[in-house]
Formats: sequence, C-alpha cells, structure tokens
Amino acid sequence: MTESTSDAAQLLALGRDYYLPVYRPRQLILERGIGSRLWDSEGREFVDLAGGIAVCGLGHCHPALTAALIEQAGKLWHTSNVFYSEPPVRLAEELVTASRFAERAFLCNSGAEANEAAIKLVRKWASAQGRAPDRRVIVTFRGSFHGRTLAVVTATAQPKYQEGYEPLPGGFRYVDFNDIAQLEAAMADGDVAAVMLEPVQGEGGVMPAAPGFLQAVRALCGKHDALLVLDEIQCGMGRSGVLFAHWQDGVVPDIVTLAKALGGGMPIGAMLAGPKVAEVMQFGAHGTTFGGNLLSSAVARVALRKLGSDEIAANVQHQSQAIRDGLDAINRDLDLFAEVRGRGLMLGAVLKPAYAGRAGEVLDHAAANGLLLLQAGPDVLRFVPALNIGDDDVAEGLARLRTALQAFVVG
Ligand SMILES: Cc1ncc(COP(=O)(O)O)c(C=O)c1O
Repeated sequence: MTESTSDAAQLLALGRDYYLPVYRPRQLILERGIGSRLWDSEGREFVDLAGGIAVCGLGHCHPALTAALIEQAGKLWHTSNVFYSEPPVRLAEELVTASRFAERAFLCNSGAEANEAAIKLVRKWASAQGRAPDRRVIVTFRGSFHGRTLAVVTATAQPKYQEGYEPLPGGFRYVDFNDIAQLEAAMADGDVAAVMLEPVQGEGGVMPAAPGFLQAVRALCGKHDALLVLDEIQCGMGRSGVLFAHWQDGVVPDIVTLAKALGGGMPIGAMLAGPKVAEVMQFGAHGTTFGGNLLSSAVARVALRKLGSDEIAANVQHQSQAIRDGLDAINRDLDLFAEVRGRGLMLGAVLKPAYAGRAGEVLDHAAANGLLLLQAGPDVLRFVPALNIGDDDVAEGLARLRTALQAFVVG
C-alpha cells in the first residue's frame, strides 16, 4: 500500500496542521486520475470540471504527456538557463511561432512569475524611452486577477487580495472592466506605459471582455504610446476556443503571458514579447533558476501541439454548448442562475441575488455528489474542465450538478 492510501484522516490532519493555512481544501484526498475522472483515497470517483484550476487542459495523465515526461526524465532534468538544451529552446520557438505576434519568449515557472516579467519589461521599455519613473504607470482593471507576488497582487485590482500587504509597489492605476471612457480618462495625462488585462477575467467572476473592448483598448494604447499586455494565463491555451483568446478580439498585443494549461499539469509559465519590446531586456536584466525546466518544457511542447489542434478547438465549442445547454435546462427547473457567461470552456454560472455569496456551499454539495467544481468569487460557479473532455463526462457532470443543486436548494 502506498503512503497516500494509508489513512485519509491522518493525511487530512497533517495538511491541517502543517500547511500554512492559506487554503481550505475539501476534506478528501485525491489519489489518481485519468482524463476527466478522479478517485480519492476511499475509492470515490469524481467527474472533474475544475481541471486543476484550468491547468489540466488535456485531462489527467494524458498518455502523450506522460510519455514525454518519462522520456525526458530518463535523459536530463535540469540545467538552468546558463546552458541551452533542446526542450525549452524548441518550446520557445514553437510558442513564438504559434503566437503570430511574438519575437521572443521568457520561460518561467508560474503565472505570477510570467506577469512579474511582463511588468518588469514594461518598466524597462518605458525607462529606455526616457520616461521618468512616475510616468511608467500600468493600468489594470477592477475584478482582475494577475497572481500573488507583491507586484502582481498590486496589479490585481481587488482589495481582498491586497489587504495587509501594504506598502504595495507604486505605479498602478485601476479602472472598471469594459469601461472604455474610464480608461480614456485614466490615460489622458500621457503617463501610462501599459494597459494589462485578461481577455476573459477568471478569478474575478468569469467575465469576458465586451465585443470591441480590446480593440478600443488597443487604439488607446496606440494613441498614448502604451503597451498592450494580455494575461492569458487562464483563458489562453485553447480554452476560449482558439489557442490565444485575443485572436477572437482581433487585436495584436505587445506582451502575452501564459501558464496553467501550458504545462498540462507541469509547472511552467511564459512571457511572449512582440517586436516593440523583444530586445529591451538584455543580458542580466532578468532571470530565473527553474524557468524552462526540461521536464516541464518537454511536456509543454506536446501540450501546445495538442491544445492548438482543430480537434481541440472543435471539442471546446461542442462541449461549451453542451454545458451551456445543460445549465439552461437545470435553471429552467431550479431557477438558480442569473446568467451563464464566458467563452469556450471557461464558463461561469452567476447565482441569482437570492443565493448570493453561497457558491462555496454549492461546491460542497457538488463534491458530496462526485463532482469537482470551482467558484470564481462568492457568487459564481466556474467551469474550466479539460479541453478534451468527452460527452459522457459532461453529461455525467451535469447530472451530478443537478443532484447537488437540488440538495443545495432544499438546504
Ligand atoms: C489570469 C491569471 N493570471 C495569473 C494567475 C497567477 O498564476 P499562478 O497561480 O500560476 O501564479 C492566475 C491564477 O489563477 C490567473 O488566473
């Protein structure tokens, strides 16, 4: 018997006692997974519509990813960026080519680190232009989420993530999402070096950019000589229905950040830099020990190829509609959702005001009924399953959701 199957109660107690208590994980021990199904240490089976928080784009233990990992594990694990090796070098080239805009890539370990690199690149670019430090402002949007390090939590325009961590780094300005007039006013002084946003806000409630919004942002960036930075850490890598979400908005960004599904479950992030900024950071300007780790890069290369395929795009569209239809059907009976919004397989079901603040309770009922689900804030159920999820998993997941919601409504 492996250690993880020995005693769920003991593991739960260890987690409670030894983890820094910044999380409140469900009271179960997940042990193995295949595709969009998971099993816990008690042998209970779950349909996974959470996808490791939008990470497991190809589900759990995809055979091609597993094979790439095992092959690389038998060759070489880590060299650091002071040496070249094949997986990260090829991954950088493949990302740049796939992006249709970038000239260079910086490989790192996480979303926060990718956004941190983007912020530093913006500042370095503005500095190289001779702009004074107080004229290197980065505008971000209320409801955004860009990660947890000090700079990106400051970019994250949600006070709940910032409280108690002051003093926060300066040089950020916040405006309402999808409000172009506010952005125009915020840029009027000419002190803005970049506008940074998620084409679909994730943690902030699964809120897509309104049609035309990104184009209007792009135009303002052009007018004020500011960079457009797109955080596609959650909505990118095929989740929206195309490899890069901003393709649907018809804009060309200056910088794009990726992580989550890029590694298919292996930790990796990337910052892609377009022609305006690709040569700005030179030797010694930035770095990371683990970035572009060989194991992560080898897996990410396979993930990238698959997530950019027509087959995945077609499945995202098909399953997105299936989940929307299923949620509509549930809603006709239970009258719980004010709206279902999002793009592709990044969907949010917004609880009606009568149920506001109770998304966490729904998640408890879901887990009790064999369904792993996420919330995006207190009022929104978030669906970010694997992009290769099949019809049976979607149908079963929706059936279990219906049962869970019936129990939730009854109280
Ligand atoms: C849009 C977005 N940006 C950045 C991050 C931060 O990524 P990480 O948790 O890998 O640092 C997240 C994580 O949820 C995210 O959704």
